[in-house]
Amino acid sequence: MAISSKLKKIIDDDKGYLFQNYGDRLPVCFTKGEGAYLFDQNNRKYIDFFSGIAVCNLGYNNKHFRKAIHDQIDKLIHSSNWFYNKEQIGAAKIISELTFPGHTLFLNSGTEANEAAIKLARKYGLAMSKNRFEIISFSNSFHGRTLGSMTATAQEKIHSGFGPLPAGFKYLPYNDIKRFKNEVKKNKNIAAVMIELIQGEGGIIVAEASFVKEVFDICNTKNIITIVDEVQTGVGRTGKPFAFHHYGILPDIITLAKGLGGGIPVGAIHAKKYLSETLDRGSHGSTFGGNHLAAAAALTVLKEIKKKSFQKNVLRASDYIFNELKILKQSLPIIKEIRGMGLHIGIELNRPGMNMVRKALSRGLIINCTAEKVIRIMPPLNIPSKDVRSGMEILKEIFIEEARIS
Ligand SMILES: Cc1ncc(COP(=O)(O)O)c(C=O)c1O
Repeated sequence: MAISSKLKKIIDDDKGYLFQNYGDRLPVCFTKGEGAYLFDQNNRKYIDFFSGIAVCNLGYNNKHFRKAIHDQIDKLIHSSNWFYNKEQIGAAKIISELTFPGHTLFLNSGTEANEAAIKLARKYGLAMSKNRFEIISFSNSFHGRTLGSMTATAQEKIHSGFGPLPAGFKYLPYNDIKRFKNEVKKNKNIAAVMIELIQGEGGIIVAEASFVKEVFDICNTKNIITIVDEVQTGVGRTGKPFAFHHYGILPDIITLAKGLGGGIPVGAIHAKKYLSETLDRGSHGSTFGGNHLAAAAALTVLKEIKKKSFQKNVLRASDYIFNELKILKQSLPIIKEIRGMGLHIGIELNRPGMNMVRKALSRGLIINCTAEKVIRIMPPLNIPSKDVRSGMEILKEIFIEEARIS
């Protein structure tokens, strides 16, 4: 992509003033959004198949969302958790309705939600028995970047350079019920299991239904807490309100963030009531967590997600994309596998995928690549059919061109 002088200045300033932990960013600076479109520094339009990593689920400049945020800014942004907060209560009520009766604690991000779940599970486990504090997570998972959730993340590359890591975490292979059963048989110190039902950062890898069912059955009989990390899969992304709804299971705890705030930073942990008591007065908290603005954002997103018509749109768009991809796969051996649910879609290639991401961007389509070879597609959940079709036309062209490169 050609770099204009305007963009060059932005890139130089980024390097001059910001940490470079994200490496070289893609060569675009977005300045506004409308529906499923983003506009760059030169007012060029892009179809968004990424939603800011599954965050902007209502798209951009959504009229209900914008009004709710504006109204809340006009009234009150923050008062702190020393005081009652009606927006938090409203959002928590809908989370309970959509999931299971429980209590919600609002935080600011996915990693913080998982950190809270880890703390809760440890405190609950230790109250049951002296050494019961271990958290089991699964190979290739991603749970966040703070020390606890980073340690729960079973990926060597994420840990590298940050040791010593906190004790009390154990990793087992994903979708391997035999290893799980063996571990539970010999290990009496397991407090909780933390799982993504679709591993997002890990490459859109879907948990097998039989594995999940057995894990949950075992945990229930052994009093092991089940934590489903719904940070990426939650809030309508997979075609049901939460990914666990596809599996016929009932977790003890779910963790949320990303799409929950529609772009306003907010995370949450939702737990069955008997567990929420564990985080008693003073044991956990957050200055900003669920402030009036963040909670109003969550409340508005949740109200939209609740609508049947909303989920129907996800399924309609999802069917279209999966069908088009399946047809493409028949003629293009560069596509190894198509995975996912709803609008949480991964296309595994037989090669690294960043070339395609850059090419798509230069043609006006935003896609992502994760786990090196998996093209990840996560459009806004309310994306209109015509925009899905236009995005898929560009995507198909790029796949065909990429396939010509041996
Ligand atoms: C499944 C999952 N859990 C946790 C996180 C961490 O969330 P955050 O970046 O908001 O801290 C992510 C982020 O990608 C995620 O995908």
